[in-house]
Amino acid sequence: MNRAAVLTGIGSRLPSRAVSNDELAASLDTSDEWIRSRTGVGRRYFAAPGTATSDLAVGAGARALASAGDPAVDAVLVATTTPDRPCPATAPLVAARLGLSGTPAYDVSAVCTGFVYGLATAAGLICAGIAGRVLVIGAETFSSILDPRDRTTSVIFGDGAGAVVLRAGDPAEPGALGPFDLGSEGEGGDLITVLAGGSRQRLSGVEPGPGDHYFTMAGKKVFRLAVERMSHSARTVLDRAGWKTGDVDRLVGHQANARITRHLAEELGIPPERCVSNIAEVGNTAAASIPLALDQAHAAGGIGPGDRVLLTAFGGGLTWGSTVLTWPVIARPGDGPHETDPHERAGVRR
Ligand code: COA
Repeated sequence: MNRAAVLTGIGSRLPSRAVSNDELAASLDTSDEWIRSRTGVGRRYFAAPGTATSDLAVGAGARALASAGDPAVDAVLVATTTPDRPCPATAPLVAARLGLSGTPAYDVSAVCTGFVYGLATAAGLICAGIAGRVLVIGAETFSSILDPRDRTTSVIFGDGAGAVVLRAGDPAEPGALGPFDLGSEGEGGDLITVLAGGSRQRLSGVEPGPGDHYFTMAGKKVFRLAVERMSHSARTVLDRAGWKTGDVDRLVGHQANARITRHLAEELGIPPERCVSNIAEVGNTAAASIPLALDQAHAAGGIGPGDRVLLTAFGGGLTWGSTVLTWPVIARPGDGPHETDPHERAGVRR
């Protein structure tokens, strides 16, 4: 039988604390004007100390399951750069808290491309007949790895989570994920990295260099590569799907920087009004960026049934990936994505 993975539920969660550009400019040599004009970010959300990636992931996952109208899935995937701990993976903790104990659950590590890699992995499980329904979550507490003294990264990234439920269905029906294009280039691994804390530069026994446990990025190189790799990947997947760029109603690129999205759209010949963007409100939320943008656009009516949607992402690794779908009818029960996590409100340490 010809099976496809079909989108059937979506949800997201943001931490409660919005951090303005002016607040960052109070402790960094930067300004609201610089941040807005160079990155498009107006504000971002930072989770309170004690709130972990799993807390945000559970919030987004619960909403996606409610939207799908069925709390059962056969696998849970969490794409994240900021797992709760180096070991074990975050996904089993998330599955247990969603009442899905016993379900296979694992993390996907591809930085800002993690969610698209997660979609491809879930589609593989579904098309191989291993799973009938899969919950895919992109979740980050990027604030936990940002160097508060580094103005080139601190102003861009934020925390959040977005999730989708995929089910087995027909390749021709709305919501069916189309072909994928995925890639990596490990030669560029140093361009986006946290140097210390793994087996190469251990945290025990060796004194890390100052700041080595923080996230670093070679912004200029990454900027150029992000535009090149995403536009090439997007073209490849459009070719595989038999779509022309003119067929794309909504381009949902990884929300890295508003200027990256603008260049990407120009490269592809997609007009700006067809680009979904929430970077002004939430910043770059890495693996959470695409599902968060999709959920917010869906909630606001910016994406609707029948829209032909192109997803494309680029991130550390280096990694990239793209896919397409025609937006289906999806329920959106409950309230907006800003409800706070009760653990965060209580300041509970987990
Ligand atoms: N506030 C004020 N000035 C800043 C600044 C900030 N927050 N960050 C950098 N600058 C300064 C630099 O120090 C530099 O000053 P100089 O000319 O005196 O040396 C100047 O602004 C230009 O820096 P540059 O790095 O050339 O800026 P840019 O236009 O490339 O923007 C980034 C920097 C980081 C915003 C941009 O490169 C970027 O968005 N890269 C990719 C980001 C990304 O999202 N990656 C995620 C994975 S896809």
